[in-house]
Amino acid sequence: MAELLEAYRRFAHERSGAPERWLLDQSIGLSSLYDVVAGLVAQRSSGPVLDLGTGYGPIAIRLAAMGLRVVGVDRDDRVLQCTEEIASRFLGPSARARFVTADATCLPLPDHTGFGLVTASLLLEHVADPAEVAAEAFRVLGAGGTAAFFDVDDGLGAEHPETPALFRLGEALSAWQSGYGGDRKVGRKIPGLLADAGFGDVEVYVLPQARFSVTSPESDERRLTAEHLGRAREGIVGTGLLSEERFDELVAEYLRAPARRLCHIEGRVLVFGRKAGVRSP
Ligand SMILES: C[S@@+](CC[C@H](N)C(=O)[O-])C[C@H]1O[C@@H](n2cnc3c(N)ncnc32)[C@H](O)[C@@H]1O
Repeated sequence: MAELLEAYRRFAHERSGAPERWLLDQSIGLSSLYDVVAGLVAQRSSGPVLDLGTGYGPIAIRLAAMGLRVVGVDRDDRVLQCTEEIASRFLGPSARARFVTADATCLPLPDHTGFGLVTASLLLEHVADPAEVAAEAFRVLGAGGTAAFFDVDDGLGAEHPETPALFRLGEALSAWQSGYGGDRKVGRKIPGLLADAGFGDVEVYVLPQARFSVTSPESDERRLTAEHLGRAREGIVGTGLLSEERFDELVAEYLRAPARRLCHIEGRVLVFGRKAGVRSP
């Protein structure tokens, strides 16, 4: 969806101080992947969609643009205000997307609502107990509804040649994320989480992505990665995973490493599960 990518870019240009800027940049950077995920997920929809941890709405807005009614939920209302603005600019006044501030582990919704599809993109890696999100998805879905969860699994990645400083920082980031309850390897666990929550017909797909590029000390790629790591600095240093000096040294080493060709491969996991029953018309 080239026009949506353009809308995100315009918004990012106008709002340099947008909250959780990295998330806005991610909505732009992963645009082609979100096109694929939204296309696959839309095929399973049988009724309105609830998008959990919607962030800047890359899935919710795409699904709405495809004609589905969508409610996006996130606990960060500052981000949601921006998402609403992007959605209304892109979808126009008859917007089919609504955004609500709520916790995905404790949704303010009754059981068996009219939702036919519950999606969660890159949410589970950030929550302490992803089973709670799966249970909530199952609870609010109508009979015959589908859950579609899309998330990371660092075990599916490879980079050549490896950058030792970045590798070390990545390890610290992953350990810090685990420490606060997140999980960079949650992808492989989602099928079991859905089955435990009561879903049947569980299907698992890996969506690979790869790029071959030249990274240099001035490249956007390095700048964005350093910014991303910088946001975790306080947590990584505060939990003693790296000292302040070591963290800064590693980032500087990564940033000034000579220009080189890099092949980067990663895979993310998309899992569907179905709630038994027949959807009422
Ligand atoms: C990495 S972002 C993903 C956003 C979007 N789905 C995407 O694919 O770009 C994770 C989002 O989940 C939200 N989030 C984290 N924990 C949450 C919770 N318990 N309930 C609702 N939202 C949550 C965060 O505020 C953030 O917007």
